Amino acid sequence: MNKTAFENVFYWEGKAQIPQEGKFIKLREDKTLEVPENPIIPFIEGDGIGPEITQAMLLIVNTAVEKTYNGSRKIYWVELLAGDKAEEKTRERLPQETLDLLKESIVGIKGPLGTPVGKGVRSINSALRRAFDYYSAVRPVYWMGQPTPIPNPERVNVVVFRENTDDVYAGIEFFSGSEEAKKAREFLIKEMGAKEEGFPEDVGITVKPMSEFKTKRHVRKALRYALENNRKVVAVIGKGNIMKATEGAFINWAFEVADEPEFKGRVITDPEAEPREGQVKLVKVITDQMLMQLVLKPEAYDVIIAQNLNGDYVSDLAAALIGGPGFVPSGNIGDGYALFESTHGTAWDIAGKGIANPLSLTLSGAMMLEYLGWKEAAEKIYDAVRRTLDSRIGTPDIANGFRKQEIEAKEVGTMEFAREIASRIE
Ligand code: NAI
Repeated sequence: MNKTAFENVFYWEGKAQIPQEGKFIKLREDKTLEVPENPIIPFIEGDGIGPEITQAMLLIVNTAVEKTYNGSRKIYWVELLAGDKAEEKTRERLPQETLDLLKESIVGIKGPLGTPVGKGVRSINSALRRAFDYYSAVRPVYWMGQPTPIPNPERVNVVVFRENTDDVYAGIEFFSGSEEAKKAREFLIKEMGAKEEGFPEDVGITVKPMSEFKTKRHVRKALRYALENNRKVVAVIGKGNIMKATEGAFINWAFEVADEPEFKGRVITDPEAEPREGQVKLVKVITDQMLMQLVLKPEAYDVIIAQNLNGDYVSDLAAALIGGPGFVPSGNIGDGYALFESTHGTAWDIAGKGIANPLSLTLSGAMMLEYLGWKEAAEKIYDAVRRTLDSRIGTPDIANGFRKQEIEAKEVGTMEFAREIASRIE
């Protein structure tokens, strides 16, 4: 595809091109970032619509940084390969070079990557998650003026922290009829006192591990975020009444974190109390109750702390309320290491047509700027996106949404939409 001529974007050519002018971000011992004025930020275009939305994101983020800092700060973007493009150029879906440079760069951004079904190919997304221990998936869900299925969508403004490394996604599974399932079943019945009626011979078993260490580091991240960003009500969710050893323990561990010296006095846990200036309130909410509350009273919560599976449900429901995953950014964040990404998939049905909605990746770029401490530039992006949507300009999915609500809208392609947004960055 036709690349926009950015002098600060260095595409892969036989290998990753590291510009002399750029500097790597450093990770301090306390896991905070030392960000130079000219950081090297790797990007992975991704498959399907990935290259198109990446171009749009680069234009908008570059414009915001330029307009905010007048050249005193500049990102040096370095393309890394993964997915189909990597396979085509290097015969590997996740080359070692990509892993090495993501490690050296600390912070990066990526478009969607497909997982070929039934070819025994493992998901690159989960390989990256494991390699860098991105233990919290962070999804801020807020409304920017796009068409939505609910009235008053401005009431939704919540950040979901989804634990990324524990829970049923750990992949410990014994299929019905397998030798492993038979063994596990016998062990549970003979040694662990499990009742036979719960474990008939044809049972399949998925294991749900949840640990104190992994839960607590995740909870600390969410509480720090809430305190730093003045988000008042933090809900930890789970079906602790049923799964006491896992989700129940998760909730209890969250409250133990609130009692640690770092948070004592700043995180209050009395459900009746009102948080004062500089304080946040931690409450527990049963997952099904939270799903209902999100629809009925979304303004009640600012941050939601969830396990992996519950976090998946809750973040998708929240995203749907404000118009779908096409409008929601995300960050996979560990101890300093972070990879920001669009939340939708590769959308092969529209790939190459120049009509994909670039907002999820663009807002992930803004979230990345915030993570670097470049908040002023991120704010300019939010403001410009809002004003573009207020002018009723959008990609076909957005324009169609407006029309369904009998609001006239101008339909534009991905890059034209990006240019409209960039032109509103002041
Ligand atoms: P999908 O998100 O790719 O597509 C679902 C529907 O939404 C399609 O009709 C598509 O055209 C539309 N859509 C998605 N993004 C859009 C955008 N930015 N603008 C306009 N329309 C958009 O979901 P699907 O089909 O379930 O997944 C396709 C592939 O993507 C799979 O291989 C899956 O594994 C992968 N995937 C990757 C993710 C990642 O890298 N983080 C996340 C989700 C899926």
